[in-house]
Amino acid sequence: MGICFRLVYWFWSQGAPLCGHFSMSPVKRWASITIFIFFFVISFVYWIDKSALTGNYFFRTFANTISPKKSSVQVEFPFNCSNLNLTCPTNHPVTIEKEESSPVACPAYMRWIHEDLRPWKSAGITRDMVERGRDYANFRLVIVKGKAYVETYRGTFQTRDVFTIWGILQLLRLYPGMVPDLELMFCLGDETHIKKRDYQPTSAPPVFNYCEDDETLDIVFPDWSFWGWAEVDIKPWRTTLEALKEGNKKIKWKDRKPYAFWKGNPYVSKKRVELMKCNLSNKNDWNVRLYIQDWGKESEHGFKNSKLEDQCTHRYKIYIEGKTWSVSEKYILACNSMTLLLIPQYRDFFTRGLVPMQHYWPIKITNNTCRDLKLAVEWGNSHTDKAQEIGEAGSKFILENLKMDFVYDYMFHLLSEYSKLLKFEPIIPPGALEVCSETMACREGNKFGRIKNFMVESMVKSPKDTLPCTMPPPL
Ligand SMILES: *[C@@H]1O[C@H](CO)[C@@H](O)[C@H](O)[C@H]1NC(C)=O
Ligand SMILES: *[C@@H]1O[C@H](CO)[C@@H](O)[C@H](O)[C@H]1NC(C)=O
Ligand SMILES: *[C@@H]1O[C@H](CO)[C@@H](O)[C@H](O)[C@H]1NC(C)=O
Ligand SMILES: *[C@@H]1O[C@H](CO)[C@@H](O)[C@H](O)[C@H]1NC(C)=O
Repeated sequence: MGICFRLVYWFWSQGAPLCGHFSMSPVKRWASITIFIFFFVISFVYWIDKSALTGNYFFRTFANTISPKKSSVQVEFPFNCSNLNLTCPTNHPVTIEKEESSPVACPAYMRWIHEDLRPWKSAGITRDMVERGRDYANFRLVIVKGKAYVETYRGTFQTRDVFTIWGILQLLRLYPGMVPDLELMFCLGDETHIKKRDYQPTSAPPVFNYCEDDETLDIVFPDWSFWGWAEVDIKPWRTTLEALKEGNKKIKWKDRKPYAFWKGNPYVSKKRVELMKCNLSNKNDWNVRLYIQDWGKESEHGFKNSKLEDQCTHRYKIYIEGKTWSVSEKYILACNSMTLLLIPQYRDFFTRGLVPMQHYWPIKITNNTCRDLKLAVEWGNSHTDKAQEIGEAGSKFILENLKMDFVYDYMFHLLSEYSKLLKFEPIIPPGALEVCSETMACREGNKFGRIKNFMVESMVKSPKDTLPCTMPPPL
C-alpha cells in the first residue's frame, strides 16, 4: 500500500501549485486522475488476491488452519509469564493441514503399543474399568477437544508429575487438534501395579506407567526424564543427546579405559548393592570399575562431576536396573561403549526394541555375575572390532530410534490407539484443573529455577507440519 500512498501524493502534488514549477491543464489533470485510479484498482485487486491465495496472518487466524505449503512461516506459540492471572489461552489449538501420508516409518519398538493394549482389544475399555485404576493412580489425565485436564489423587517423588504432564502438553502443541479425547489413569512411582494374576485380562483397569514386566499389564509411557530431571540436573533429552554426541568424540573407543564402568546410586535395590562386590579390590580384579553417585554432594558442587557426557571414558559400560527400570539406560547406551546389560526384569517403552549381541552384551544376574563381567571385558579386549561395533550399534539405536520426534510419536500413537478402545465419552471431571504450558511453566518455574529452564528448553515452539511416523503392524 505504500506505493499507492506515494502515488496519491505524487498525483496530488502534480495538480497543486505547491512547488510552482509548472501548472497542469484540466485535460492533463483528468488523465492523471484516471491513471491513478487505474493503478489503485490494480494494486487493490492484487493485494486481495495474494491474501486469499497464500493466507496472510489475518486470514490464517480467521480460518484457524495453517496450510502445509507455508511451513517456512513457522507459527510460534505465545509464551509470557507476565500475565499473572495464569489462565490458559483460549485460542489454541489450531489445526494444521498436513500431507496425506507420512513417509517416515516408526521404529520397530512401537509395535509394543499393540501388545500393551491387547487385553482390551476385543471388548474395549469401559468407564468402570478406568475408574478402578484410580486406586493406583497419581492423577487422571483428561483430554477433551485438544485441551488437557488433570485430577490429582496423590503426590509423587520430586517433579515426576510436573514433567510427565509437561511432556503431554508439549505433545498437544506438536500435534494440535490431533490427539483424540480420552481419560486415563497415570501412575508415577517405580512399582508396577496391575498384576496379571489379580485380573481377568479383559476387565483389568488400564493404567499408564513408566515400566512393566512379565507379571503385569501396566501400559508403558515415556518417563519424565525426557523433559528433564530437575533435581539432579539431568537436562531434557534433546539437549542431553546432543551433549552425548559431542562427548563421544572426546575419547576414541580404542583409547578408552579397557574396563567396565558404572556410576550411580546402589542403594535403591539389592541387585545394585550386590554388584558393588564386583568392584576392584585387593583380592580381585573383575575388570570392573564402579563408582557411587552421591547426589547430595553433587548438588552442593553444582553437578560438575555428574555430567553424563563426561562418562564415556571406558570401553564398556554396565547397565543395571534400579528398583525397577532405570532412566540411565538411554544415557549408558548412547556412549559408544559396549553395554554390558545385566538382564533386567522391567522394561520401558523403547528398551523392548533392543537386540542382544547386536546392541548390547547380555549378562544374567547370578552368583557368577562378577566372573561373567570379567569374561565379557576380556572377550571385548581381544575382539576390539566386534566390541566396538556392538557399542556403536547401541548408540546408533538410541540416536536414531529414540530421538525426541519418535518419543512424541510413540506418545501420540499410544494415546490414539488407547482412545479408540474407550467405550464411553470422556468428560471433564469436576475436580480437574485445566493445564497448559503457560500456567505450568510460570507456576512451577517459581519453585526453583531449573524447572523453568528445563521447561523453556524442552518447550515445543511450533506445531509439526508433517504427520507422525507410520505405525508398524502388530506382531
Ligand atoms: C508479556 O506481557 C506483558 C503484559 O501483558 C507485556 O507488557 C510484555 O511485553 C509481554 N512480553 C513479551 C515478551 O511478549
Ligand atoms: C486477574 O483477575 C482478576 C479477577 O479475575 C482481575 O480483577 C484482574 O484485573 C486480572 N489481572 C490481570 C493482570 O489480568
Ligand atoms: C571401586 O574401586 C575404586 C578403585 O579402587 C574406588 O575408587 C571406588 O570408590 C570403588 N567403588 C565402590 C562403590 O566402592
Ligand atoms: C548364591 O549364593 C547364595 C549365598 O551366597 C546361595 O544361598 C545360593 O544358593 C547361591 N545360588 C546359586 C544358584 O548358586
